[in-house]
Amino acid sequence: MSLETKINALSKKIDKMIQTGFWYGFVVGMYPSQFAYKSMNVDFNSWRKVREVNLYYHIPFCKWKCSYCTFFMTLNHDDELSAKYIDKVNEHFHFINSYFEKPMIVKSICFGGGTPNSIPVDLYEKIFDTLRKGNVIFHEDLEPSMEISPEIIDEPYIKRLADIGIKRVSLGVQSLKEELRNSINRKENLNIYDIVDILRKYNMNINFDVMYGLEGQTEETFMDTLKELVKLAPETFSVYPLAGSKSSMFKKKDNLMTTKEKYQLFDVFYDYLTNNGYDCESHVKFIKKNQHSTHQQKIYEYQGTPTLGLGCGARSYNEQVHYTTAYTKNGLIARNFIDEYIEKDYKDLQLYGFEMNEDENKRRTMIYAFFMGKLDRKIYFEKYGTDALKDFPVELGALLQNDLIEIADNEISLTRKGRKYTDLVGSIFWSERVENMYSPI
Ligand SMILES: C[S@@+](CC[C@H](N)C(=O)[O-])C[C@H]1O[C@@H](n2cnc3c(N)ncnc32)[C@H](O)[C@@H]1O
Ligand code: SF4
Repeated sequence: MSLETKINALSKKIDKMIQTGFWYGFVVGMYPSQFAYKSMNVDFNSWRKVREVNLYYHIPFCKWKCSYCTFFMTLNHDDELSAKYIDKVNEHFHFINSYFEKPMIVKSICFGGGTPNSIPVDLYEKIFDTLRKGNVIFHEDLEPSMEISPEIIDEPYIKRLADIGIKRVSLGVQSLKEELRNSINRKENLNIYDIVDILRKYNMNINFDVMYGLEGQTEETFMDTLKELVKLAPETFSVYPLAGSKSSMFKKKDNLMTTKEKYQLFDVFYDYLTNNGYDCESHVKFIKKNQHSTHQQKIYEYQGTPTLGLGCGARSYNEQVHYTTAYTKNGLIARNFIDEYIEKDYKDLQLYGFEMNEDENKRRTMIYAFFMGKLDRKIYFEKYGTDALKDFPVELGALLQNDLIEIADNEISLTRKGRKYTDLVGSIFWSERVENMYSPI
């Protein structure tokens, strides 16, 4: 088949995906996604030469279970379990740290979940003590960040977080509409104005997570929430389309937005945010103009900094391998996995992952560069010694035909249409090996 025929064939496929509103779901946010992981023995020597890292801590505990959520979390926990879990996480850190030839330079720290503020705040002190004892070097721009549920945080907790060194919190707001909040099982009272006041008092930077496509949510109710939150001037927004709508939890729901409707709504909130003081960082991330606090960990990941995941269910990525402990979306059995993580030596746990090679790393570079809006061909060349245009002529040719990218000098950038379909653009770079392992959730 000639190059032109291949480009035309892929171009038609992309056009069809756009016309039918096809969306892979959340899986495109990382490459390769976890569906491509298989049980494997991980050689931790892959960390030996690494200098700069992101640290991601997974805190798999929540106080309630939101209807849409398939994250690895359990409700079955108490403070004693949390303390044992964090001791184990600290051991996990020491174990991997011993493989580093030189002290690691920590560029970002993110506590994610689950709900990190559902455990006693003192435990975070222990984590930072462990890092200091492990001789890590904290990068000067480090902005330790924590995902929190704003309904269950108070001033003493926030003050301690600030004392420990947390500088940015990401608040899982989702929606301000009470009826909608009830329907997704977020029934606790939320006083976002008071929480924001307290966070500002302690100089915390703020991100709001909001979701669109929730059961019964309309463009109007979503935009009402977004406009109200813009008034609070958070440094960043994460705006997520509901994923997993094909999974069993939504089977009986007929009042969910279609993917086409979600794409239409994207245009509406993209215009609103970009006309009201925010720049688009990626299709799901927006940043207030002219300030520094940003989605640090995501950006460094897009730029290629390896991430060391700590805790049960935390993913680790370096150039040689991606891996995690056993992972489940089923909250009822998550506790078994957590118990196993606490009881066993980390080195004896069964891990699941994906071996990377140069071709897969190149694909990852393309996908992550487009998540940031553009690929710098010079940077690509410096890294791999080849030209992206020559490595991916079919993919780039087809994206160009669909007006999803434009090429100028050394930059290959997403067009406005490309921004909207970033997930689709990313999926075009999946290798056959990864594509064949995909099954929709
Ligand atoms: C770990 S949670 C944030 C912290 C905290 N657990 C909370 O919900 O308040 C990460 C974010 O992922 C998003 N999220 C979770 N499940 C999702 C889904 N099925 N589709 C889209 N976004 C989802 C939500 O916006 C959520 O705030
Ligand atoms: S969205 Fe957050 S609070 Fe809700 S179940 Fe998922 S992790 Fe827990």
